[in-house]
Amino acid sequence: MKILVAAGPTREPIDPVRFISNRSSGKMGYAIASAALKNGHAVLLVSGPVAIKPPAKAKLVRVVTAREMLSAVKANLPKCDALIMAAAVSDWRPAKISKVKIKKHRMPRALPLARNPDILRIVAGEKGKRIFIGFAAETGHLRAEALRKLRAKNLDLIVANDIRRTDAGFEADTNRVTFFSADGKQAKLPLMTKEKVAERIVAWLEKERRRRSINDRLKPATVLRKIR
Ligand code: CTP
Repeated sequence: MKILVAAGPTREPIDPVRFISNRSSGKMGYAIASAALKNGHAVLLVSGPVAIKPPAKAKLVRVVTAREMLSAVKANLPKCDALIMAAAVSDWRPAKISKVKIKKHRMPRALPLARNPDILRIVAGEKGKRIFIGFAAETGHLRAEALRKLRAKNLDLIVANDIRRTDAGFEADTNRVTFFSADGKQAKLPLMTKEKVAERIVAWLEKERRRRSINDRLKPATVLRKIR
């Protein structure tokens, strides 16, 4: 498969020295890219600014803002079989970017924000037969929120984690996730390294792909049987 992985945070500039962002380290997305490469897939890695090294064999597209990430995903999706959105996209950006450094005595009383595009929702229309996997980072109502996002973003699988735990989610080397798939199945995984979680995600993707190709191959036979 050719797999598009989006990883890391996005950064939304306030002025030439400041930005708003989030705690994503990129570790989960980069681990997915490595696991996919190890299994012989081609990987296109769209990455926000992170401090870790990308896997050597991935084709890397570096982005900074959510809008740049959207353009990179849109441009590369047509040539991919699957999309894994492990990125922590900043939901808002400063409404105005100051071209010059805002001096400390000119501190704004409030920072007006604008909504960023929801990348998964936007590309959902171009999904076709592709397999889409998303993440849900939650501080409560894990199952309900994960299922809401699975449906709203037309995903095949959502990987949900409770980010209140210190051994899971942002910056940690380990993760404790639950898979919710579009066919109604649920699988709670124990605490494991992000590398192991990545292997499980890639294994799920491969299984889903096999299931679909078997179904596609069976279809003409079923039709033939009905005609007879
Ligand atoms: N996502 C996205 N574009 C955004 C925000 C999120 O594509 N602007 C993707 C993430 O990469 C992730 C999934 O959507 O795969 C869910 O992200 P999450 O931050 O958990 O949820 P939100 O959609 O931001 O919803 P909420 O703020 O209500 O939790």
